[in-house]
Amino acid sequence: MNNKIKKIINKKNKSKIICLTAYSKNIAEEVDNFADITLVGDSLGSVLYNYNTTRKVTLSNMIEHSKSVKMGIKKSLMVVDMPFNTYNSKSDALKNARKIIKETRCDAVKLEGGKKIINQINYLIKNNIPVMGHLGVLPQSIKGKFKSTGKTNHEKRKLLNDSILLEKSGVFAIVLECIKTSTAQQMTEKLKIPTIGIGSSKYCDGQVLVTDDLIGLNNTKVRFVKKFVNIKKYIKLGLKKFRTEVKLKKYPSQKHSY
Ligand code: KIV
Repeated sequence: MNNKIKKIINKKNKSKIICLTAYSKNIAEEVDNFADITLVGDSLGSVLYNYNTTRKVTLSNMIEHSKSVKMGIKKSLMVVDMPFNTYNSKSDALKNARKIIKETRCDAVKLEGGKKIINQINYLIKNNIPVMGHLGVLPQSIKGKFKSTGKTNHEKRKLLNDSILLEKSGVFAIVLECIKTSTAQQMTEKLKIPTIGIGSSKYCDGQVLVTDDLIGLNNTKVRFVKKFVNIKKYIKLGLKKFRTEVKLKKYPSQKHSY
């Protein structure tokens, strides 16, 4: 097993795991200083391309952004989302995961789902592809309105069963998205592998957020997002200064000219 993956598993019950998204080199360089896991999420579909669903994200979208991200990474574990329709069968999953890993040199892939895709996950792991799981709200499967989960006994039982199945298959961590606090806590306590929460309470072993959301670059109104800084303020400041200096013929000075 990859050393970075071992380290992440060993953090369970010791130190919270930090996971952040990146879609390009410059952000990846910053994320890499703070994150254990850099995730090239298919959330790039909505954040960068304004898609109303991650289902529109293609394999080549993911590969091109991941190649850029890879250039910014020195130490964190790089995980790439397998986009919708790329793991419908065992052979598709393996063919596409191998392509992602070969072309982007990432460390692992992430797939959304439990029992429904367990054959694909088992097959990837049997073929030495490291996999991160993703349970709870599954953006690639959303039809209609977004709704948190893990509230009814049925949902809770299904999530617990799915997480145990994923652990048995050998995934090294599971993202828990928008799962009721007590259910996420129970899943975290039951599993030996870490859970990485997004909108699933502080009881998870780690947390993930879309970097563009937490720095205020992307305007999103979902409950679990906290804006830790308003980066737009600084962007505006820089752009305004540039415009003013150009208009006043202060920029470029001789120092910035040849
Ligand atoms: O696509 C993504 O960015 C994700 C995270 C938000 C977990 O899957």
